[in-house]
Amino acid sequence: MSVLVTGGAGYIGSHMVAELIEAQEDVVVVDNLEKGHKEAVLGGKFYYGDLRDNEFLDKVFKENDIEAVIHFAAYSLVGESTGDPLKYYNNNVVSTLNLLTKMKEYGVNKIVFSSTAAVYGEPEQVPIRENSRTQPSNPYGETKLAIEKALKWADSAYGIKYVSLRYFNAAGAHISGKIGEDHNPETHLIPIVLQVALGKREYVTIFGDDYETHDGTCIRDYIHVTDLAQAHILALKQLREKGESSIYNLGNGQGFSVKEVINAVGEVTGVKIRTEIGARRHGDPAVLVASSDKIKKELNWKPVYNDLRTIIETAWKWHKRHPDGFKS
Ligand code: UFG
Repeated sequence: MSVLVTGGAGYIGSHMVAELIEAQEDVVVVDNLEKGHKEAVLGGKFYYGDLRDNEFLDKVFKENDIEAVIHFAAYSLVGESTGDPLKYYNNNVVSTLNLLTKMKEYGVNKIVFSSTAAVYGEPEQVPIRENSRTQPSNPYGETKLAIEKALKWADSAYGIKYVSLRYFNAAGAHISGKIGEDHNPETHLIPIVLQVALGKREYVTIFGDDYETHDGTCIRDYIHVTDLAQAHILALKQLREKGESSIYNLGNGQGFSVKEVINAVGEVTGVKIRTEIGARRHGDPAVLVASSDKIKKELNWKPVYNDLRTIIETAWKWHKRHPDGFKS
């Protein structure tokens, strides 16, 4: 039986495929390659297509004996979602509803869902726990929350069991240096600072230094992409063994400011990073730090690359070897 990974050619999806192969799972990958890279898929059976295409989806389910789904395929840019919310509802929500409908039709009753810290919006308290208020401050977070609710109802009506994983800031690259982050345009902090270190950008703009934090810049909780992928393996195990639905945060429980991240990149690369102070980016909460106690306790999740320098070192290895991403 196979595990279907949607969005398996994307940044997090491709690291997931690598871990599943390592765990000797039989993997089927679906990706429309709008954002993903075929070269990032290190194994499994690949299908090029879109989850909104019913005939395509039917073919995938018909040709494979799918046991469980790990669902990444989605748009994930907060800023873009604010400018074009319907694009996000269409790709994220409609795709997932199609996928769930197909799962129901073929009797597939396990799904691990890629959710986000953006479901919380501006947090009421830090660290954020799974039972904290969910009040997204952008359409991206709204689409992920809408899907979590659909999952809950699909569970109670059809018995489709789910684990929803709310990621904080995914970062780093595969330890081998073979796969890593390659977005176009790049909007995430660590790859942008590494591009400055590589001489591909002149400077990094710090989006606001007047937040109520110790150095005025935003604080985030960075989690290594392989640790994230490992949490999905544990989620799958729990669905197989216990068949219980649940929601977990995934972060390291430690916050780093934008300036601290830039300094750490400077130390790892040995390059002095030029910075400029810019305006705040719309919709950025000052502090987002997770409590991941629940997944540690219930699923025995143990992050391995849980220190910022190590996370940056793995990303640096990838970026140095692939300065133009998968093209190089
Ligand atoms: N930042 C800068 N300059 C840049 C890029 C980012 O100062 O050039 C700052 C941002 O303002 C933010 C921090 O660096 O304070 C991290 O920004 P990222 O864009 O790397 O990540 P986000 O925290 O905005 O977004 C991440 C995920 C989203 C998810 C969100 C949850 O990428 O998918 O966390 O809030 F929705």
